[in-house]
Amino acid sequence: MNGHFISFEGPDGAGKTTVLQAMVERYQHRLKDQLTVTREPGGNPISEAIRTIILDKNNTEMDARTEALLYAAARRQHLVETILPALEKNHVVFCDRFVDSSIAYQGAGREIGPEEVYEMNLFATEGELPEKTIYLDIPSELGLKRIMTHRTEDVDRLDLEQLDFHQRVRSAYLNLAKKFPERIVVIDASQKLDDVKKDVIEVLDKILN
Ligand code: TYD
Repeated sequence: MNGHFISFEGPDGAGKTTVLQAMVERYQHRLKDQLTVTREPGGNPISEAIRTIILDKNNTEMDARTEALLYAAARRQHLVETILPALEKNHVVFCDRFVDSSIAYQGAGREIGPEEVYEMNLFATEGELPEKTIYLDIPSELGLKRIMTHRTEDVDRLDLEQLDFHQRVRSAYLNLAKKFPERIVVIDASQKLDDVKKDVIEVLDKILN
């Protein structure tokens, strides 16, 4: 496969959606229909339906392992229906979250255990990992502050978690970055947006030029 599988990760409030959108605008001109932009949980009707169940704020009864299994199920379908076919066509795939999100959110945030969540996800991914992961790092207090100011009408179930949840998520991401320094690039997302974008472009240009 000659495509490029690139994931974007980060705790809530890191500005991932904004940065990813800016990168799509920057690269789609050059890549045209060779760029596939997709997100987890989602990317196809089955995974989007699972996403609706997971993020429904009325589902307060959801067990942490049920949640982890649903993310993994959505991921499996996303991988076989969207990501792998795109890579086979030599596309560049920009993927908003992948397995690192489950390790950080379910493994550390929900305290199932990062290793256990990774192991369980192997059934879904068969070991498939992004070639490069752009991790937008933000101190938890600042991330939460951004969510509160920007997203008053769109606060989903997970955004309502406490500060310590966000701190556990962040430190899991930083551990992953230490464990996979070749794959995961840590970008300081507390900088001004233009500087964050510049750092991300530097990484992407190296892969895509
Ligand atoms: P997302 O739509 O990426 O939210 P945002 O735009 O704020 O980044 O993801 C929604 C939520 O799903 C987010 O809080 C993280 C969570 N999530 C997990 O907990 N585990 C996972 O495996 C994935 C993919 C997402």
